[in-house]
Amino acid sequence: MPNPKKLLLLAGDGIGPEVMAEVKRLIGFFTQSGIAAFEIEEGLVGGCCYDAHGVAVTEATMARAHAADAVLFGAVGGPKWDTVPYDARPEAGLLRLRKELGLFANIRPAICYPALADSSSLKREVVEGLDIIILRELTGGVYFGEPKTITDLGNGQKRAVDTQLYDTYEIERIARVGFELARRRRNKVTSMEKRNVMKTGVLWREVVGEVHAREYKDVELDHMLADAGGMQLVRWPKQFDVILTDNLFGDILSDIAAMLTGSLGMLPSASLGEVDAKTGRRKALYEPVHGSAPDIAGKGLANPIAMLASFGMALRYSFNMGKEADLLDAAIAAALAKGLRTADIKSPGATIVNTGEMGAAIIGELERLATSPR
Ligand code: IPM
Ligand code: MG
Repeated sequence: MPNPKKLLLLAGDGIGPEVMAEVKRLIGFFTQSGIAAFEIEEGLVGGCCYDAHGVAVTEATMARAHAADAVLFGAVGGPKWDTVPYDARPEAGLLRLRKELGLFANIRPAICYPALADSSSLKREVVEGLDIIILRELTGGVYFGEPKTITDLGNGQKRAVDTQLYDTYEIERIARVGFELARRRRNKVTSMEKRNVMKTGVLWREVVGEVHAREYKDVELDHMLADAGGMQLVRWPKQFDVILTDNLFGDILSDIAAMLTGSLGMLPSASLGEVDAKTGRRKALYEPVHGSAPDIAGKGLANPIAMLASFGMALRYSFNMGKEADLLDAAIAAALAKGLRTADIKSPGATIVNTGEMGAAIIGELERLATSPR
């Protein structure tokens, strides 16, 4: 067998460890059945890391993240850490990983599985068959722009500043990822910004337009103001293929897109760095879009599908195992088609299962699909 693939698992807080346990079970299945060998390391991130080490992620874990072929990330945060210093807050661990690994391209697919078309808060005809991607710029914009401060003005007032900042190269490289993705799909990119209010929006539109005219004329390109884009996402989401947007708008629009699929518990994501010209490899982190959901943590209520599908994206984007990723997606669809539902996607007549039962059912379907003659 070729070199084992090095995975760093960072389960984090809240429901993170529960959903990550299902990924471990899936990895066990892959190993036992001889499909692929993975070398697993585990580490702390977020609030649990703060409790143990006083920081949201340690230097040692950062080094292991750099060395791994891919990082699988659960979720971070919770009310327990609401009062820790800002720099050590759980989210800081995730943001440091994104920034220092250079993971500028965040791919968030929103796919509505046929069995879940009635779980969405929108009408079936609006979401049935939905298959779109939110492509979010992940290492720039207001998340990282400096200055980022709160200053005491001395007159009983304080002033908070965040800085929204984009350079040409940052827009160019994320635009290229968008056009490349679109070429392998329905060949359409919708770029979203706020050029009517923000200079970064003006530059964003200009640069995306230039990259398009220079390198990707064959791809259909539309521009939309981000607020109108949010409205169109709930009005008629099937008009989109790839939505290309900045860090903050992407954060918001991807939560909206998640609900189109039935539940936030369904949405996986991949965060990718630049392809290394020498090795052809890229740094990568895979995480579910849902958060740590402290209110349901430890109760077996969490939906493991977004985490399992995030592992599926690792198979596809880091390990060139598209066939296995397709099988996993089919196994998820099959478990849902059988009427199995975690509490977040429950519907009349469905069989409610817990986190572990859903994981086991999906692996059962995978086993069946992997061994059935095709
Ligand atoms: C996300 C999350 C993060 C973000 C938080 C946890 C920092 O909401 O990945 O969408 O805002 O990027
Ligand atoms: Mg978010």
